[in-house]
Amino acid sequence: MSPADPILLATAAEIVLRAGDIQMSRRETGFHVDKKGTIDLVTEVDLECERMCRAVLADRFPDHAILAEELSGESTEPAAARYRWVFDPLDGTTNYAHGLPIFCASLALEIDGETEVGAIYDPTRRELFTAERGEGAFLNGAPLRVSGTAALVDSLLVTGFPYDVHEQVDRLVELFGAYLGRARAVRRLGSAALDLCYVAAGRFDGFWEQRLKPWDVAAGALIVQEAGGRITGMDGTRFDPEAAHLVASNGWIHHAMLEVIAQVKGQKAKGKG
Ligand code: IPD
Ligand code: CA
Ligand code: CA
Repeated sequence: MSPADPILLATAAEIVLRAGDIQMSRRETGFHVDKKGTIDLVTEVDLECERMCRAVLADRFPDHAILAEELSGESTEPAAARYRWVFDPLDGTTNYAHGLPIFCASLALEIDGETEVGAIYDPTRRELFTAERGEGAFLNGAPLRVSGTAALVDSLLVTGFPYDVHEQVDRLVELFGAYLGRARAVRRLGSAALDLCYVAAGRFDGFWEQRLKPWDVAAGALIVQEAGGRITGMDGTRFDPEAAHLVASNGWIHHAMLEVIAQVKGQKAKGKG
């Protein structure tokens, strides 16, 4: 099977679309919400979407590995394989649990450690974002392109906060404040996967966040890159989905975004010295 095998992208799209159907229908029926931590929620719907994904993949590709957010304990597939699917069954769980219609499912396929295919579906807007390495990024089949905004002061940025935010409010707010003082505006939507899709679509010019997990970012990072954007670690190093921190942008404002982070870090180091 080559990365270009159409069954791979078709499967990714099918699974996120099916997850979207589950998410929409369960909004009508109601669902149980549990806590994984003080502010970290998991709903029945997260679990239902993940079970569906695992069943489809196990049936179609029994020798592929799966990394997904909620049910690794139930997994029967191989832990290591050349092909690994990375799934977030519901990105934006807090929004979903509160009835805020900003959430999605996100699925990526890595082959030999490189993300080759990505699909993200927002069922409330019926927006399917897809990408294959080297083939471009698409929204409902139409090509996507990042924005052409050249200056940070003209940029609309977005960020998110990790679930241990209570333990590090000052640190997170400091960087948020630094961007707020330099950008046109800063948003916080509550779905890292959609944040990345919106950078790819030119709706946002840049996105930063730390303490992310591979399932939050694997598909979205490929979609940004294939839409002509740039993605690195917050220190400017090569993007690594396992590294938990990132800056994604239209490319034009990337350096300015990294400079803001370096300045905040530098000020802190001076304060300590
Ligand atoms: C979260 C969302 C949120 C981000 C958090 C993620 P979840 O994922 O992507 O925007 O700020 O860091 O953990 O828990 O809704 O799948
Ligand atoms: Ca997530
Ligand atoms: Ca999730």
